[in-house]
Amino acid sequence: LRVLVLAGGLSHERDVSLRSGRRVAEVLRDEGLDVQLADADAQLLDLVDTWRPDVVFPVLHGVAGEDGGVRAVLELVGVPYVGSAPAASRLAFDKPSARAVVARAGLDVPEAVALTHTTFRELGAQRVLGALVARVGVPLVVKPASGGSSLGMSVVRSVDALPAAMVHAYSYGDTALVERHVEGTEVAVSVVEGPDGEPLALPAVEIVPDGGVYDYQARYTAGTTEFFAPARLDAAAAEAAAQAALTAHRALGLRDVSRSDLIVDADGRPWFLEVNVAPGMTETSLLPQAVAAAQRSLGEVYAALVARAAA
Ligand code: DAL
Ligand code: MG
Repeated sequence: LRVLVLAGGLSHERDVSLRSGRRVAEVLRDEGLDVQLADADAQLLDLVDTWRPDVVFPVLHGVAGEDGGVRAVLELVGVPYVGSAPAASRLAFDKPSARAVVARAGLDVPEAVALTHTTFRELGAQRVLGALVARVGVPLVVKPASGGSSLGMSVVRSVDALPAAMVHAYSYGDTALVERHVEGTEVAVSVVEGPDGEPLALPAVEIVPDGGVYDYQARYTAGTTEFFAPARLDAAAAEAAAQAALTAHRALGLRDVSRSDLIVDADGRPWFLEVNVAPGMTETSLLPQAVAAAQRSLGEVYAALVARAAA
């Protein structure tokens, strides 16, 4: 099989994507597949035309990759690809929409308000900030409504820090999500579909950043975050986290692979933060750790995804 691994792109997560893509290409080559690693740029259609891949493996994080854009192009030219379809990707990528869908499916989501930059300016920052704090409480988390790798995200512990956090989030997009900060254990639960299409939750991976906040640096600088795979949860909490990730995967109509990020509170209850349709696949990323914790090999898992897409 010829597999085109797409990485890079023009999102803020370009560097991460290149790292993920190199790793995926390496793993698939070790499985004996014919792999080409390419940037997702204007040459994409020419490359598809000349090299004629059997399957595309998009490892594109952020805009175009996770919002369904590139996948829509692949649909148009009729090349099978690994992962969720364009509409489902878009739904999952927009955090306010994804939260609404999974909440309807029964998951707990932290209290939050999504606010466009225009509304923020028109209503006046002072009034808005007061209302946000009254509604969500402090500490709270401010993040771009769509985006990844914690770029533009701040944990706000005092009201004074809120204006700067809002401005920071708006530098990544025109909508900010202001969310209650849930105390608990931060975990990521990856879901991978088997050959029959049945989604399976891999063991939760627990995230303990040295600085307390799992920001961009903590994500991608080796040694700045301690991981526990599997997470140090009791059996009931681990099962609840697994079920939450499966519910999110199904409710949003995702395919092949996803990773839900959750906080498990002191009562063992998982709170949904977000789901990723192109989870990080770098050396320090969560999905590869979950695969290892499940005593499976990345080669087997990625090759099975490719085989299913090609079938
Ligand atoms: N958005 C990054 C790549 C992740 O979810 O792992
Ligand atoms: Mg994300």
